Amino acid sequence: MSKVSALYPGSFDPPTNGHLDLIERGAKIFEELVVGILKNSEKVPMFSLPERLDMLKTLTAHLKNVRVEAFHGLMVEYAKSINATCVLRGIRAVSDYEYELQMALMNRKLEPSLETVFMMPADKYSYVSSRLVREVAQVGGPVRGLVPEVVEQKLREKLEPAYRFHDEMNGESSHTASTRQNKRKKRA
Ligand code: PNS
Repeated sequence: MSKVSALYPGSFDPPTNGHLDLIERGAKIFEELVVGILKNSEKVPMFSLPERLDMLKTLTAHLKNVRVEAFHGLMVEYAKSINATCVLRGIRAVSDYEYELQMALMNRKLEPSLETVFMMPADKYSYVSSRLVREVAQVGGPVRGLVPEVVEQKLREKLEPAYRFHDEMNGESSHTASTRQNKRKKRA
């Protein structure tokens, strides 16, 4: 099999364990994998582009054939500019399929030489999405196990009032919560 460079594009707002699982799987089968974060001027993200770049670089530092970059504009044009011949996308459930199929076919229309490859993340992440993580975190809900620890910490920092309120309502003093958070920071 010839050596293939692939692009894994997405919003990653924030990166989840499902994303990381897919990156690790992709890194095993592609010679080079570029994680491309879309700089989308239409949507206001929860995490800025530098924050997402920073998180994903930290999370993939152990994968020597993976690099993280930002892109804007058409994904197929960016793929071409980095010599990627494959696009990697994750499919969690049948519900993802329709949107992904449409996107893959549109991308093929735009650039016939670029192949889309679908991979499944581990089934334990099949319900995890950035949107749902944001929804849970915005009201101070637990996201442990859904996102990597560095992302969990960032969410707690960004949404401090929501987490403080949630922890207090659930009988956990803000002191206990911040002690727990500090312990986690030291471990990281
Ligand atoms: O993680 P997401 O938000 O589902 O990723 C969607 C993404 C970034 C892959 C898609 O929106 C994209 O490629 N946008 C770039 C603009 C583009 O090329 N649009 C045509 C797609 S058919």
